[in-house]
Amino acid sequence: MIKVITYGTYDMLHYGHIRLLERAKALGDYLIVGITSDDYDKTRGKINNQQSLIERIASVKATGLADEIIVEEYEGQKIDDIRRYNIDIFTVGSDWEGHFDYLNEYCKVVYLPRTQGISSSDVRAEKRKLRIGLVGSAAFRTKFINETKYVNGVEVVGVYASHTGDEPEVQNLFYTNSYDELLEKVDAVYVISKPENHYMHTKLALEAGKHVLCESPMAYSKTQCKELYVLAEENNLILMDAIKTAYATAYERLIFMVKGGKIGKVVSIDVVCTSLRDGIAVDGVDLSQKWNSMCGWGPVALLPVFQIFGVDYKDRVFYTRFQYKRENIDAFTKIDFVYPAGVASVKVAKGAKAEGELVIAGSEGYIYVPAPWWKTDYFEVRYENPADNKRFFYQLDGEGIRYEIVAFAKAIESGRNMSNVSENISEAIAQIIDDFNNRINLIEFQ
Ligand code: CTP
Repeated sequence: MIKVITYGTYDMLHYGHIRLLERAKALGDYLIVGITSDDYDKTRGKINNQQSLIERIASVKATGLADEIIVEEYEGQKIDDIRRYNIDIFTVGSDWEGHFDYLNEYCKVVYLPRTQGISSSDVRAEKRKLRIGLVGSAAFRTKFINETKYVNGVEVVGVYASHTGDEPEVQNLFYTNSYDELLEKVDAVYVISKPENHYMHTKLALEAGKHVLCESPMAYSKTQCKELYVLAEENNLILMDAIKTAYATAYERLIFMVKGGKIGKVVSIDVVCTSLRDGIAVDGVDLSQKWNSMCGWGPVALLPVFQIFGVDYKDRVFYTRFQYKRENIDAFTKIDFVYPAGVASVKVAKGAKAEGELVIAGSEGYIYVPAPWWKTDYFEVRYENPADNKRFFYQLDGEGIRYEIVAFAKAIESGRNMSNVSENISEAIAQIIDDFNNRINLIEFQ
C-alpha cells in the first residue's frame, strides 16, 4: 500500500485545495492530510484565518478525499509524521517547490502544479477589509500600523492627530486634525491618545457607531468605564481594552495553569514593571506628552493580579514617590493588595529601575516569569523538588499586538466580544487610577 501525506491550512476551502487533494490521493492508496493548528499558524506568521481548526478539519473531511486527518502543531513535525505513519510520498503544491527537498531522505517528495487563479488569501480578500483609524501620538502608532500588516482582513486607513506637522507620514494613510472626519471614514478606531482623553475619544467613537480598541486605562473612573461598556452594548458595538500581554500565548497558558491548580492555592503575586526610557526623570522634558507610571504601567501590572485573585480586594494601599506632584507624575508607585485568601504587590516605575519579573506563589509551587514578563514567551513552574520543575516557551510575535488585533477583528465579525480583558477588570483598573488621582489610601515618600 502506498501512503501519501500532504499539509496545508485549508482556510475557506476552495477548488485549488480540492484539486490538490484529488491529485495527492491519486499518487497512492492512502492519503493523510495534515492541517495546521491555529497556534502553529501563528508562529508561521499566517494569522487571522477566517476559520478555526475545527471548521477547517470539517471542510477537508467533507471532501471525502482524506483517509486520515492529523493536526500539524510544531516545526519539525513532518519528519516525525513520515516516520511514524510509514509514508512513501510527501506532496504539496508547486508554490513550495524546493522547500521540502530535505524530506527526500525519508520518502519521495512530489510538488504538484498549483491551480492558477485562486487562493485562500483571494477568498478572504473578497470580503471588505476592516478599516481602522488611529488616535494618538506617533511613537505608539507606528508599532500598531506595522502589526496590522500581519493580520488578514484589516487595514489602517487614517490617523487623527491634533498637531500633524511633525508626524512621519505613512504612505496611503490620510492624516486629519478633525476627529469627526476620522470617524466618518473608518469602521473602528484604536485609541492610544493621552490617558485623560481615552474616555472622550472612545465615547465619541461609540456614539458615531464605531467599534473601539482602547489602550488601558479606558477611563479615569469606574463609572465612566461602565458607561462606555453600556454604550457599546446598546449600539451593538465591540469595545475592547487593549492590554497586549493578555494576548501572548504563553501568558494565556500561564493563567490557565494557575487557575487549573498547577501550583496549588495561590497565596501571593509579585509584579514589577519599570522603564526609564520615557525619560520622565529628565529635567526640561515636555510633561504634557508623558504618561505617568500608574497609567503607563499600572494596567498591565494589575492584569495578573485581577485575573487570578479577582477584583474584590479587602484592602489596598499606594506608596508613591512623585516626580512632579502637581502634574500627577509618579516616578515610582507600589500598590499592596490584601484579598480574603492572598496578597499581591505591584510595583510600577518610570523614574526607577528594577527587575521586571512576575512571581506567583502557591501552596505547592510557584510560577516564575523572567523580565520583561509583560512580553511573555517563557515561564517556569517550580517546585520544592527541582526535578519536578517545568519550563514553557511559546513564540511571541509583535509583543502580542497582532493577536489582539485578530481578536478585535474576529469580535467585530462575529458580533461576540472576544476580549481577553473582561469588563470588570477594565473597570477595576479605572477605579485604581481614580483612587490614585484622588490620593485615596496613598502614602507619599520623598
Ligand atoms: N494549493 C493549490 N492550488 C491553489 C491553492 C493551494 O494547489 N490555488 C495547495 C497548496 O500548494 C498546498 C495546499 O493546497 O499544498 C494547501 O494550501 P494552503 O496554504 O492552505 O492554501 P492557499 O490558498 O495557498 O492559502 P494562502 O492564500 O493563505 O496562502
